[in-house]
Amino acid sequence: MAYTVSKLTDYSAAALERASAELVGALEEDVRKLLFDDGKRALPHEAEWKLRWEEWKIFRDRWIARKSGILTQVNDVWLKGAPKEAKRSAGQLVNDLKKKVEEEVARAEATLARWEADDQRASPGQSFASMDDALRVVEGVDISLPGVRRPIGAEHPVIKTTNEMVRVFQKLGYSVADGPVVETDYYNFEALNFPANHPARDTQDTLFIAGQQGKPQRERLLLRTHTSPVQIRTMEKMRPPIRIVIPGIVHRNDPPDASHSPMFHQIEGLAVDTNITFGDLKGTLDHAMKELFGSSVKTSFRPSFFPFTEPSAEMLVSCFICGGSGRRGTEPCRPCKQTGWIEILGCGMVDPNVFEFVKDNGYDPKRVSGFAFGMGADRIALLKYGVDDLQLFFNGDVRFLAQFV
Ligand code: PHE
Repeated sequence: MAYTVSKLTDYSAAALERASAELVGALEEDVRKLLFDDGKRALPHEAEWKLRWEEWKIFRDRWIARKSGILTQVNDVWLKGAPKEAKRSAGQLVNDLKKKVEEEVARAEATLARWEADDQRASPGQSFASMDDALRVVEGVDISLPGVRRPIGAEHPVIKTTNEMVRVFQKLGYSVADGPVVETDYYNFEALNFPANHPARDTQDTLFIAGQQGKPQRERLLLRTHTSPVQIRTMEKMRPPIRIVIPGIVHRNDPPDASHSPMFHQIEGLAVDTNITFGDLKGTLDHAMKELFGSSVKTSFRPSFFPFTEPSAEMLVSCFICGGSGRRGTEPCRPCKQTGWIEILGCGMVDPNVFEFVKDNGYDPKRVSGFAFGMGADRIALLKYGVDDLQLFFNGDVRFLAQFV
């Protein structure tokens, strides 16, 4: 006997339970008949799938058709017929049943769709009724299954800072250059005017590649300690005038702590042309800092030393955290150590000795001049985002990184 919804006279919890169980039993029996009766699973032919879908529609309408489906009847007969005191529990029951029935109908549909796709895969060469059917058969892909959601990543704060800086220089007409992280002594030191065997090499805490002692010093491999070797590599390839920025990773033998890391990021710049002056250097870098930190920052230069620039300087920017006052309210400003200034990069005019190494490519030190600068992207990102431990950038903890999305 096919299931029908009968009137309820008893609205006690036990009676509701019984009525509900009877309905669910009928639903499950219908699903069983629809999917499994008479070895239905094995049906292979297209025409028969049409039939199966007709059956599914009948099943669906019997249970959820708006006009006279079983769910509607349950609502009309059980809920509307319920005495006042039983309205609540009957309402809850009807809601639960509604959910259950809708789930079963959807599940039967998904199951049929999957089986149909399997059958079509098993008989190649058939023609498809629609693009959808065709797609379902793409080998090994069951598009009737829900997709896998992957969380979308975000730019790492150091890379983001680097990109911002690079963009500032691109707007000035600079192009981006890069070079290898495993470098030779020649590019990292010699061609940058570090004297052979000079202790200046030690100041960079170089990490050397093992087993290089058999080679002449200039060919020995190391992890580049700065992005400056790309100055030479680029000048070997491109004749003047050039304007380049060089973002990249560098390594030094520093134990990791809150402000050091054996691997970190630099952004290098190089401009070479006729008549480039220290004034060009100052104007360019001042502009770049204002673009990056806001138009109210000031810049200041003080003498320094690098073997590959002469004269050399260190550039400071007025502290963009305390506004240059050295204090944050009543607290001392930590990032600038209360000085109101933050050391941001090294720079200088390209030493004529450096041009000597690339003279044959048009860099005659009597004809051209240039400036170069190099800064630590990680340090700038620390300051920009108010992060107090460099290691947080490299630990890969998603909880930290997700704050920058
Ligand atoms: N390469 C230098 C460093 O890593 C920075 C620098 C680059 C200085 C270019 C001057 C010119 O410390």
